[in-house]
Amino acid sequence: MGVSGKRIVLGVTGGVAAYKAAVLTRELQRAGAQVQVVMTEAGTRFVGPATFQALTGEPVFVDQWDARIVNGMAHIELSRAADAIVIAPASADFIASLAQGRAGDLLATLCLARECPLAVAPAMNRQMWENPATQRNIQQLRNDGIEVVGPDSGDQACGETGMGRMLEPEAIVEALASWLSPKPLLGKRVLITAGPTFEPIDPVRGITNRSSGKMGFALAGACVQAGAEVTLVAGPVSLDTPWGVRQRINVQTAQQMHDAVHRQLDAAAHAAHPHDVFIAVAAVADWRPASYSDAKIKKTDAQSVPQLQFTQNPDILASVAARKPAPYCVGFAAESDSLERHGRDKLIRKGIPLLVANIGHETFGRDDNELLVLDGSSQTRLARAPKHELARELVHEIARRLDLPR
Ligand code: CTP
Repeated sequence: MGVSGKRIVLGVTGGVAAYKAAVLTRELQRAGAQVQVVMTEAGTRFVGPATFQALTGEPVFVDQWDARIVNGMAHIELSRAADAIVIAPASADFIASLAQGRAGDLLATLCLARECPLAVAPAMNRQMWENPATQRNIQQLRNDGIEVVGPDSGDQACGETGMGRMLEPEAIVEALASWLSPKPLLGKRVLITAGPTFEPIDPVRGITNRSSGKMGFALAGACVQAGAEVTLVAGPVSLDTPWGVRQRINVQTAQQMHDAVHRQLDAAAHAAHPHDVFIAVAAVADWRPASYSDAKIKKTDAQSVPQLQFTQNPDILASVAARKPAPYCVGFAAESDSLERHGRDKLIRKGIPLLVANIGHETFGRDDNELLVLDGSSQTRLARAPKHELARELVHEIARRLDLPR
């Protein structure tokens, strides 16, 4: 799924951002894609083909009449072998040529002769991007079913700041993975909690846990890739929002997470487009200190140790499952023993249709995991894998249950 196992023709056209195409090549390979680079003559003015040749281990093609292609039809050979063509950076000139269906060089010709999907990542100066001619051309590409990825705004090579900068390579890979993935959650609204909560004691101290947020963020990304509109309510974590997440709400405490979740559910229900799925991945603190001290608690007397009193936090997942109507609720659990029995108890106690149990301890902070998926009648084991892969498998498990009678 995503770009993994895909054969991608990466077209590099003339622009300063061409140097980032080398990083993009590496990122695509890291995501499991096979990359073949084709450059325009202008592209080679910015980065030499030797760089891409060394990175991909494949010859780089520039010339329409390249004698290395046996039957002399490089455009047909290259586009026939590709699962997708990605132009990054796509210059204003190349976009114009695509919009008009021109075949002025090898890259343009193979875009015209393609049978596979085509995506472009525009990169140009702000004025060139804003020019009505470029905007017209971009609209034409969209109308022709070509995916336009970016651009971003920020500092530009010309010294200006504004729209037109090529999206960063990591974001391009995420966007491509999303674009090339199947869409079992198309049109669905998904709300996800992720990360730990932080329960303050005084202005400098508090109680939290070791949840990294990685699994919840991976799931948010996988839901986007599956076509869902995703809102992420995150506890304190230092993770970038996955590409395509519609809204991220940062909270600290369990109570704030509870309130943010219900506000989102209320607003969506009010707008007559309620959430279809709620996934509670957050490691929510079950208790919080009963009182909060506005001033830092001082160590005035070495003999006296402060005694903390606790009070119960709301159970966010159970409160969402109790709503009428409720979205399809998915819970997460960390059990140390009797996984299935405790898991099934939890399904019933929380009133939810699906529970995902971590197999084994020490899952916090790790990049991989092993999961047991439990519903009312069956269990499915998801073998140890990186969290972003497990996230895709989980999305599949959720999506296929959504259409079943509940
Ligand atoms: N959860 C929640 N609100 C809480 C506590 C938990 O939404 N106040 C959610 C978590 O996001 C997770 C699931 O409920 O989806 C975990 O349930 P919990 O009962 O906390 O399970 P464990 O942490 O495994 O705790 P225990 O076994 O002690 O019940």
